[in-house]
Amino acid sequence: MTSELGVDAVVLVGGRGTRLRPLTLSAPKPMLPTAGVPFLSHLLSRIRAAGITHVVLGTSYRAEVFEEHFGDGSALGLELEYVVESEPLDTGGAIRNVAHRLRARDAVVFNGDILSGADLGSLVGAHRAAAADVTLHLQRVADPSRFGSVPTDSGGRVTAFLEKTPDPPTDQINAGCYVFRREVLESIPAGRPVSVERETFPGLLASGAHLHGFVDASYWLDVGTPEAFVRGSADLVRGVAPTSALPGPVGDALVLDGAVLAPDARVDGGATVAAGAEVGARATVSESVLFEGAVVGAGAVVERCVLGAGARVGAGTVLRGVVVGDGAAIGAGCELLDGARVWPGVALADGAVRFSSDA
Ligand code: GTP
Repeated sequence: MTSELGVDAVVLVGGRGTRLRPLTLSAPKPMLPTAGVPFLSHLLSRIRAAGITHVVLGTSYRAEVFEEHFGDGSALGLELEYVVESEPLDTGGAIRNVAHRLRARDAVVFNGDILSGADLGSLVGAHRAAAADVTLHLQRVADPSRFGSVPTDSGGRVTAFLEKTPDPPTDQINAGCYVFRREVLESIPAGRPVSVERETFPGLLASGAHLHGFVDASYWLDVGTPEAFVRGSADLVRGVAPTSALPGPVGDALVLDGAVLAPDARVDGGATVAAGAEVGARATVSESVLFEGAVVGAGAVVERCVLGAGARVGAGTVLRGVVVGDGAAIGAGCELLDGARVWPGVALADGAVRFSSDA
């Protein structure tokens, strides 16, 4: 069977997630715990809620962990299949590589690292109404200069794929979600790396194919960087980002069973504290994600951070906008600020790092 919506879903989850290192050294980006479940669970829940049940995952980096966790998908009401690339085929190559598993006339393709509220039924409906070859979800963003932009004509047809410029002519960007007519998907060259963004789409446009834009302005976030990952997780916890993988908006923090908070610890801003994690007396954890077994010492301040599994933060240490790898230990009385990344297993002695205004 295909799906109530009459389409297959393809989810690309094979990237190495380099911008999220060191977290992605031990787990691929879509498996990182986000509001208490793997990031991919949120996307799969949204796919299921839209009435799509047949989902093919295109995997490469750490391919085995997806099947270990999600199995055949029946627990989620899905029929999940996995296609492994022996060499990474990039986005377009990965899409082509799953063609033999598709059943329906159209496939909805998702980047596996996007949180989005776009209505998938409307996206598919727009594709069919336009009788397009490919329909791209185009997101309206406040600052399009940070992205390449995708203008459309008055009928919604894509007219160009423009590189990043300081003054783009439109606020529409490629949101990383597409509906492909199956024959068009099969026309992507097989067996070699292909970028769907840089090669497939510009090539289709140049050859006169009908590329349609589905323009949307609901919630959208690419969680590919540590800052975005932290924000996305907090938005899920607070109910700002859409998901069907949680029972409902959790509130100001998600403290999972088995976490230990001191009575006077403060945990807020959409923070998640996983099982076995500990937050000590008078410590503050705000808008951060603590993986299993992470420990925050007494009086420490952790804002907009990710603490990997078993990471330890010493008493009185201040971390803002920092990623701490699994098992790393930061001693007491340290200060680390925006963009700092501590590699797994690294130990920093008490007071070893400080960036204060009078330093
Ligand atoms: P960075 O290294 O931080 O840029 O992350 P990334 O490797 O995930 O790359 P990017 O964010 O550009 O990828 C967009 C989506 O395509 C993500 O969901 C990736 O998992 C996926 N992706 C990227 N390259 C490949 C690939 O070679 N094979 C497969 N199957 N998926 C890929």
